[in-house]
Amino acid sequence: MSSNVRPESMERITTEALATAFIDEQIAEIKAQVGDKKVLLALSGGVDSSVVAALLIKAIGQNLVCVHVNHGLLRKGEPEQVIEVFKNQMNANLIYVDATDRFLDKLAGVADPEKKRKIIGAEFIDVFAEEAKKLEGIEFLAQGTIYPDILESDGVKAHHNVGGLPEELNFELVEPVKLLYKDEVRVVGKVLGLPDNMVYRQPFPGPGLGVRCVGAITRDRLEALREADAIVREEIGKLPETPWQYFCAIPDIQSTGIKYDANGKGERYMGWAVVIRAVNTTDAVKVTVPEIPFATLCKMRDQIVQIPGVNRVLWDISEKPVATIEWE
Ligand code: XMP
Repeated sequence: MSSNVRPESMERITTEALATAFIDEQIAEIKAQVGDKKVLLALSGGVDSSVVAALLIKAIGQNLVCVHVNHGLLRKGEPEQVIEVFKNQMNANLIYVDATDRFLDKLAGVADPEKKRKIIGAEFIDVFAEEAKKLEGIEFLAQGTIYPDILESDGVKAHHNVGGLPEELNFELVEPVKLLYKDEVRVVGKVLGLPDNMVYRQPFPGPGLGVRCVGAITRDRLEALREADAIVREEIGKLPETPWQYFCAIPDIQSTGIKYDANGKGERYMGWAVVIRAVNTTDAVKVTVPEIPFATLCKMRDQIVQIPGVNRVLWDISEKPVATIEWE
């Protein structure tokens, strides 16, 4: 599948049967394209790269080399799930790189959001390229480019990733889902046996929790954010209708809290405020804020204030415009 234009005759993949036919066709195409050569894939654990990994594992097995870079800004349990699903269950050839210290050291003291994004992007490419250079016989690079990436940014996802890699790593691309829309990628992922929380994952920015730990990231505030985020995903995830995106941010401010000892003597102290954000949208351009039941808000509050260093919980009801979805 080399054309970047989706043929008008291409049926929308909405059923298991259509997904199965697509998978069979892609396996044949991948085999024809790469033969017995090795393919490299940056596996983030997001739905697009996960579906590409599962497809390539079916097509070429151990000749797919997946690299999962943990930049320390992933959500709770994410790196563990990538290892469990791909290495343990699918027997993937998976290289796990814990680069947390590298990223957090580079980010120390950096408060400007765009600088943070640049550092995270550049460091990611460095780590990935370093791993790639250690490997021998790689001739192809697989990517989870999907059709909206091609339509909206003229293939920027592909250009960005490949263009950012050093010259000697300019491999031929393998992009098996590049003509699919997101909903189709999910149907294919489901048929490939990926777990629901991977297939129906809410959008998560590449810089991850890095743009939600507002201002200069510190490890303790980042940890508090990761815990709060897990609570919010769990509790809002139980609602009959889940919002499009729901998460936390943790601003770099402290406010007064009070603790009482066994004798009822109060002591004031400074702690962080966690912000709960839940939004609905179809295009991420215009965003509304759904109602969250007060009981759910209280349940989240009661758990979030148990996190060390946190003493306040806020609910962000801002729409877009004027606010953006993310805090940075
Ligand atoms: P904003 O905050 O601009 O977000 O309203 C719109 C959508 O884009 C996601 N987002 C990002 N995704 N890298 C990404 O891959 C980023 O730097 C980034 N910033 C925002 C955001 O989560 C929302 O879904």
